[in-house]
Amino acid sequence: MTAVSDAPGNDTLFAPAATESGEEARDAVGRPLPHFPEPEPLAQHGPARIIAMCNQKGGVGKTTSTINLGAALAELGRRVLLVDFDPQGAASVGVGVNPHELDLSVYNLLMDRTVQAADVILPTAIDNLDVLPANIDLSAAEVQLVGEVARESVLARGLRPVLDQYDVVLVDCQPSLGLLTVNALTAAHGVLIPLECEFFALRGVALLVETIEKVRDRLNPDLEIDGILPTMYDSRTLHSREVVARVHEAFGNTLLHTVIGRTVKFPDASVAAEPITAYAPNHPGALAYRQLARELIARGDAR
Ligand SMILES: Nc1ncnc2c1ncn2[C@@H]1O[C@H](COP(=O)(O)OP(=O)(O)OP(=O)(O)O)[C@@H](O)[C@H]1O
Ligand SMILES: [Mg+2]
Repeated sequence: MTAVSDAPGNDTLFAPAATESGEEARDAVGRPLPHFPEPEPLAQHGPARIIAMCNQKGGVGKTTSTINLGAALAELGRRVLLVDFDPQGAASVGVGVNPHELDLSVYNLLMDRTVQAADVILPTAIDNLDVLPANIDLSAAEVQLVGEVARESVLARGLRPVLDQYDVVLVDCQPSLGLLTVNALTAAHGVLIPLECEFFALRGVALLVETIEKVRDRLNPDLEIDGILPTMYDSRTLHSREVVARVHEAFGNTLLHTVIGRTVKFPDASVAAEPITAYAPNHPGALAYRQLARELIARGDAR
């Protein structure tokens, strides 16, 4: 059966993109949609801004957004490192790395002080896009780190030596608010919260924001919430529109202008182990992540 979202005209599932003139374009909550210009190439690279892609709810589009935002930023000439910080290894798989065949993974970076990030990082088939892969080994780290000194800062320490080589580091968090996620928040400059457009989506966000505030108070005073990114949006349903309106009421302009529509092209691209920007470069899903990349650069959240 063909999914509804792949029917012709599926771009209506996405909020309208800005027209060249920017006139009359509105985002999903009716705010004027700015035209996000193609950013200038960077004169020099680094140091990277680290963005944690975080939501303790499962299946909301964290990994999909990490891969596709990363690929869209890489297309703009940004040097991007994806950090797979989930033992499921989905971000690694999504850029073509087999987690079962790794000699070293992010687990070794965390647990073995003789291992450097540069020893673990792998290139991907996409120019400017590297990955620090993960596999099931990482599931042991949560327990093993508990006894460590400065256990919340282990990822930050591990990433520090490579930050000058990248413009943006995206950390794909696992669906939990445990010690690994706290490590990601401690390492990060900003948090991007992918939020599935469904009814209970907002329920966990208060707890996530509380966790972010605790990390800011105790560990990382400069941590910012960069934005809330609605995912799996379907403009034909009142429901999707209501969720986004509620997010706007509660969080104001933390709600990004860009929304990501629901389409089977995303799971299809994952099966092909490619970002959608490579798998279906002209699909509205690819355009949406390119717009997100330009929006974050325009907001100063990415270089
Ligand atoms: N915009 C979208 N439209 C349709 N399907 C999507 C979309 N975004 C993600 N998906 C699919 O939904 C599933 C969950 O997405 P993803 O793995 O990115 O979520 P996640 O938040 O990383 O999940 P987890 O919490 O398990 O790590 C995947 O099968 C993915 O292909
Ligand atoms: Mg994931």
